[in-house]
Amino acid sequence: MTLPRFITFEGIDGSGKSTQARRFAQHLQAQGTGVVLTREPGGSPGAEDIRKLLLTGDPDRWSAETEILLFTAARRDHLEKTINPALAAGKTVVSDRFADSTRVYQGATRGDLRPMVDQLHALMIAREPDLTFVIDMDPVLALERGLARKSGEDRFEDFGLPFQETLRHGFLALAHANPNRCVLIDGNRTADQIASEIAAHA
Ligand code: TMP
Repeated sequence: MTLPRFITFEGIDGSGKSTQARRFAQHLQAQGTGVVLTREPGGSPGAEDIRKLLLTGDPDRWSAETEILLFTAARRDHLEKTINPALAAGKTVVSDRFADSTRVYQGATRGDLRPMVDQLHALMIAREPDLTFVIDMDPVLALERGLARKSGEDRFEDFGLPFQETLRHGFLALAHANPNRCVLIDGNRTADQIASEIAAHA
């Protein structure tokens, strides 16, 4: 069996997906697979600059439409500079978030902007992961965890619990609509339990 080469982790803020992405990348490396672990927004120098614009400051700093443009610009740079070169070099790419985050965060939370998200994606990105782990988690616990981190990148956590609940339903719907590439993971367990379930997909 050939391993899918572009793998993403998705979920609400504080769902533990960053830890799981890192652990899965380490697991693949230990098996001898060349891996690039990356993240969005960010993952390339230009996209990391855009990340700062997006994740700091007032929650109302950007309209939803401007946000879609900024996330898409960051993703395009990430694809050009990091993801595509790594895949071309035969490496496996593990990304902490990708386009599904825009579909859910921007497409389903502030009015129905999903058609706009889909159009921009088709025009500028036109790439889906081979495999996506969607970590599902109780938003109350996830939000406590996310805010406890005090990362200074809390613009989205600052929208509060109802926002996180909408996100959770968005991710669940997305996983059900894309069973060919999405694996839904119960995140309400220990990190070790989750990591071993995910590792079984390697
Ligand atoms: P992180 O906490 O996983 O690093 O993600 C940063 C925040 O950016 C998180 O609150 C989700 C948000 N985000 C979007 O709203 N749209 C996107 O397309 C991406 C990639 C992230």
